[in-house]
Amino acid sequence: MIAPVATLEREEFHFIRDFVYKTAAIVIDEDKHYLVEYRLGPLIEREGIRSFRHLVSELRQPTSGPLRSRVVDAMTTNETSFFRDARPFDHLRRAVLPQLIERRRSEKCLTFFFGGCSSGQEPYSIAMILRQFFPELDTWNLRLTGADISSEMIRRAREGVYTQFEINRGLPARLLVQFFEKAGIHWRLSESIRSMVQFEERNLTHPLGLTGNVDIFFLRNVLIYFDQEERRRLLQQVRDGLRSDGFLMLGAAETTVFCNDLFVPVPMEFSNLFHLKGTPNPINLNPCQA
Ligand SMILES: C[S@@+](CC[C@H](N)C(=O)[O-])C[C@H]1O[C@@H](n2cnc3c(N)ncnc32)[C@H](O)[C@@H]1O
Repeated sequence: MIAPVATLEREEFHFIRDFVYKTAAIVIDEDKHYLVEYRLGPLIEREGIRSFRHLVSELRQPTSGPLRSRVVDAMTTNETSFFRDARPFDHLRRAVLPQLIERRRSEKCLTFFFGGCSSGQEPYSIAMILRQFFPELDTWNLRLTGADISSEMIRRAREGVYTQFEINRGLPARLLVQFFEKAGIHWRLSESIRSMVQFEERNLTHPLGLTGNVDIFFLRNVLIYFDQEERRRLLQQVRDGLRSDGFLMLGAAETTVFCNDLFVPVPMEFSNLFHLKGTPNPINLNPCQA
């Protein structure tokens, strides 16, 4: 029998806050004491650790690798849904993808990177759009990569099984019929869509090693967890990873104002799309098309 978990003392809170920041660059504000307690309380019970004090002393051990990654995992916010915010996906389908495809017609290759992809709904939404609306791409080389620091989210993304609640949040009924099958009380995405996306457990604060071949870099609802310095560092990596006429897509509440020297917004309402500043060959998107 495990004794009830003790409350989180200030010193332990600071250790965990600094540890999560150093590991994942995720900023935990001083007033988020309750959040750490709430997220890590169940974890220490599951692990059979007696208190937050014991958790901290275990994290100090050089051999605590697996526990460290479980702690970081528990401190990530994995909120996501199929076709989240809807409009950016419409813009992509109607305006961005047709032009991008036109440009890449001779090489027949498209590359998309999804940073902070959580349980996979975002890359799978794009995969379903490609499959449904652009059948000519069936013969193309499509590279869709989802990356997330959370091993649990990457496991779930690879599995492609979603609860009824997750399905109800944004997946149109016709896509449910077309691309999912029942798996007990849940729904499994078809192999034809799952096989279009590769998932990698990766820390975006480490070098991404992208070599300038990405057509669209999705980085939605991730920058909000980082401080200004880390956001800039990551956007510099995105710049290096993009093709000169490629796009960056951010979340609805995110901007690149602190990186005006790197990116400029595409003038298309509610798209949250950016392209590289000074690109010699931008794809001109007509806002009326969206
Ligand atoms: C709020 S979710 C966004 C999911 C999806 N992009 C969307 O907009 O629906 C943020 C994701 O970023 C991931 N994340 C946070 N810090 C990260 C890091 N340093 N490296 C990789 N992924 C990270 C979290 O694990 C989480 O799944």
